[in-house]
Amino acid sequence: MSRPIVEVKNLKQYFPIKEGLFKTTPLKAVDDVSFYINPGETLGLVGESGCGKTTVGRSLLQLYKPTGGEVYYDGEKLDAKNMLTHRKNMQIVFQDPYSSLNPRMTVSDIIGEPLDIHKLCPTKQDRKDKIHELMELVGLNSEHANRYAHEFSGGQRQRIGIARALAVDPQFIVCDEPVSALDVSIQAQIINTFEDLQQKLGIAYLFIAHDLLVVRHISNRIAVMYLGRIVETASSDEINDHPLHPYTVSLMSAVPIPDPKVERNRHRVVLEGDVPSPLHMPSGCTFRTRCRYATDKCAAECPQLTDRGDGHQVACWNV
Ligand SMILES: Nc1ncnc2c1ncn2[C@@H]1O[C@H](COP(=O)(O)OP(=O)(O)OP(=O)(O)O)[C@@H](O)[C@H]1O
Ligand SMILES: [Mg+2]
Repeated sequence: MSRPIVEVKNLKQYFPIKEGLFKTTPLKAVDDVSFYINPGETLGLVGESGCGKTTVGRSLLQLYKPTGGEVYYDGEKLDAKNMLTHRKNMQIVFQDPYSSLNPRMTVSDIIGEPLDIHKLCPTKQDRKDKIHELMELVGLNSEHANRYAHEFSGGQRQRIGIARALAVDPQFIVCDEPVSALDVSIQAQIINTFEDLQQKLGIAYLFIAHDLLVVRHISNRIAVMYLGRIVETASSDEINDHPLHPYTVSLMSAVPIPDPKVERNRHRVVLEGDVPSPLHMPSGCTFRTRCRYATDKCAAECPQLTDRGDGHQVACWNV
């Protein structure tokens, strides 16, 4: 078996937050997160808003300097120096195609920028050809290369963002909720485009979403995050058929079932209470304040991810 294209080991990202005049408290946005992604594979990362998904993506790409832990690209440990070389191999597609693209730049300027930065096209004609090729690859009409970003719909803008990420021939893309800002009718088309591109080009994805339905469809494996930690990880089928962590079970039960009869009679697990503040986390298992199975042990000690066979890992004292 080939080695992972990306491996994250014990990643920590703490943000110092001022509380009052003299006190600084670390906000543990990502705390001891480890995972790997094989070449051409998709790892889905799910969890509620604020659980640290974007921070994982950004710290992994060294857009934030991690507080602790290591990130490996194709077996090489990333640092500020070699990141310049690897920047080309690791790209990101953002959630909001409205704010992430400059509306006053033409599509040609937007897609051409990374080509220029990495000096990938020796002549003007090469550059033009490459831009047209990329536009067609993501399902855009290359005759529109000189139009401005603001002239395109949300879905088309996201295609521009994808073409821009693909311009440098990356092996790995962080897709940070790339369809959340789009109409539901457009979401499936963009997800299909991501899948087609993976088939054609063998790119690996870290696919971030708060919606399990989206992630389940596109991912080979899934990692579920709660308050800065991964609480469960397994193959997509396994998470679907045998979710173990009470948090994953509640997320799964929120996914609608297409059959109305089954949907009407199903048992929903509704979580009580709000997500605790990441500045003042509960002791022990951070999920225990919303967990109906919580015991004294859960308050005393934080469970680590442990293997239940076939790479299915869960961090819970009660399963
Ligand atoms: N630059 C920063 N400085 C301080 N705190 C931050 C910073 N970025 C994120 N946070 C905090 O870290 C936590 C995780 O945020 P993050 O954006 O990674 O969550 P998320 O899972 O991506 O949420 P969403 O689904 O809303 O995008 C949140 O409590 C957030 O307020
Ligand atoms: Mg986010």
